[in-house]
Amino acid sequence: MQELVGLSEIAEIAGASNQTVSNWKKRYEDFPEPIAQIKAGEFYDKDHIVKWLKRKGKIMGAKIVAFINLKGGVAKTTTTVGTATVLAGTFGKKVLVIDLDPQTNCTTMLIGEEKWKELNNDKHTLYTLFKDALDEKNNFDIEKTLQKSVSNIRDVNNLDLLPSSLDMVDLQDRIATAPQGQFYANNPTEIIKRAVKNIKNDYDYILIDCPPNMGLITLNGLRIADGYVIPTIPDVLSTYGIPQIINRVNKFSDSIGEEIECLGIVATKVRMQSSLHNRTLNQLRMEKDAPMFKTVFYENNQMGEAAEYQPIGTLRQKWGYQGQYDRLEAFTIELMDKLEA
Ligand SMILES: Nc1ncnc2c1ncn2[C@@H]1O[C@H](COP(=O)(O)OP(=O)(O)O)[C@@H](O)[C@H]1O
Ligand SMILES: [Mg+2]
Repeated sequence: MQELVGLSEIAEIAGASNQTVSNWKKRYEDFPEPIAQIKAGEFYDKDHIVKWLKRKGKIMGAKIVAFINLKGGVAKTTTTVGTATVLAGTFGKKVLVIDLDPQTNCTTMLIGEEKWKELNNDKHTLYTLFKDALDEKNNFDIEKTLQKSVSNIRDVNNLDLLPSSLDMVDLQDRIATAPQGQFYANNPTEIIKRAVKNIKNDYDYILIDCPPNMGLITLNGLRIADGYVIPTIPDVLSTYGIPQIINRVNKFSDSIGEEIECLGIVATKVRMQSSLHNRTLNQLRMEKDAPMFKTVFYENNQMGEAAEYQPIGTLRQKWGYQGQYDRLEAFTIELMDKLEA
């Protein structure tokens, strides 16, 4: 539902004077275009305005990023969790990770296998949320599902998690074959949006680990995202689907009338000695469809072992002293700069 707001309402949302808002309108080229102009003045789409105010840091509100690739094994989860731990641990941000991937790697990385099993048995995962949508039930309990202060890195506080479940595999199939009834009438891409409505402003950043496809669960993540990141190994098979991802997100973004910015491609598991990797990296840097993050992640045993859930003291200990942590930090800074520009 599109909600319209005039300049004085914008001023109210931003806690600024009418004059200030008029000045922003003149000063910023990217100030949203009015979608209606009548005698009473100009009217804007409220969602567009709120997003813009957030981007400019005029109002609080989480910056929301989805990590997607059609291919598995490209370090999507490692990048999501690594970035989340650096945002929370190094930059003191309040961070929520939403694990939308039925593989639950993100979840077990952050809370361990034992805790996940317990939550899964009690059905306190996002499985229940999606199942509710299909069955028109109300069993999802956000209080019990939201895991607070996760991560076993001592330096990391303020990192929360909405856990996933392996059972979401079955749901993906059911969602795909659901008849065009009540489920579709309830806007199946807005299930997550409705669920986090009341908690999302508690965070500075929300990072979403999406499953390796462009199905409804991924669209639920994109629906609330300000932008998305495509982690990829710089090889033929991993980069093959990138134009399709960009295309699909653009279409989806048009259909909901909200911008979902392609924040960039980040190269992962890069082998310095591989001529294929070097060639693909050069190609990706020349492509115009999506920007490349300057930071690349090299293939490295410790990065691979970071998936293990073991108590540890510092982020450097966790991710590695041979530049691995530094690269995660550099990537996180690039990401923050893009979102706060
Ligand atoms: N820089 C890296 N070097 C070596 N192994 C890595 C690196 N990053 C991730 N891995 C490993 O690669 C595998 C796939 O990574 P993961 O983050 O789970 O990918 P995805 O979420 O895309 O499936 C995992 O076993 C992970 O531990
Ligand atoms: Mg994964």
